[in-house]
Amino acid sequence: MAFATRHFVRTAASTSSAAATAAAKKLVVKHVTVIGGGLMGAGIAQFAAASGHTVVLVDQSDEILKKSTKGIEESLKRVTKKKFADKPEAGAEFIEKTLKNLSTSTDAVAVVHSTDLVIEAIVENQEIKNELFKRLDKFAPEHTIFASNTSSLQITQLANSTTRQDRFGGLHFFNPVPMMKLVEV
Ligand code: NAI
Repeated sequence: MAFATRHFVRTAASTSSAAATAAAKKLVVKHVTVIGGGLMGAGIAQFAAASGHTVVLVDQSDEILKKSTKGIEESLKRVTKKKFADKPEAGAEFIEKTLKNLSTSTDAVAVVHSTDLVIEAIVENQEIKNELFKRLDKFAPEHTIFASNTSSLQITQLANSTTRQDRFGGLHFFNPVPMMKLVEV
């Protein structure tokens, strides 16, 4: 399964915004940045990498990211045991391919320079999320779509911290992400 974009745009405010909107509408998402390597972010990164995307998982320290990666490796083993019960070689290949698609970083600004989709899964705090999106908005390419995995905050309030309200959405995954097929868009 690949990430697809829906045509959810109402009115483009300016010509440059209209061009970016058009680019976003045609976008095939190849590179995904997941910010926050906790329970949800690690699961989202695993799912995105397993479905063939190039994924960078970002968090505040290498120590946290090491823990996230270990969790992803363990989760992949569990998923593979079920999915490839009769084909252990295919299972090993699946794990290898997924991990090859995944890398980590503590520098969100550097990563978003060349990403198609940013999925934010950091702490549930409006101010902290707004500050992050505002900062990343300056460095991400125009076509890049921003999404939040927030449980309770308003997407509009988050989008208003950026200049890309027409390329901003909610992607609400459910726990545990690698097992749950439902995602609210
Ligand atoms: P968590 O506490 O497990 O992980 C949050 C991660 O974000 C931590 O690793 C933390 O170091 C990192 N972080 C915080 N500020 C950061 C920043 N500025 N830059 C980079 N990394 C940063 O939280 P969890 O449970 O994964 O939740 C994340 C988001 O997903 C929240 O908005 C939550 O409401 C939402 N959510 C949670 C669900 C759940 O079942 N836990 C279900 C659906 C949505």
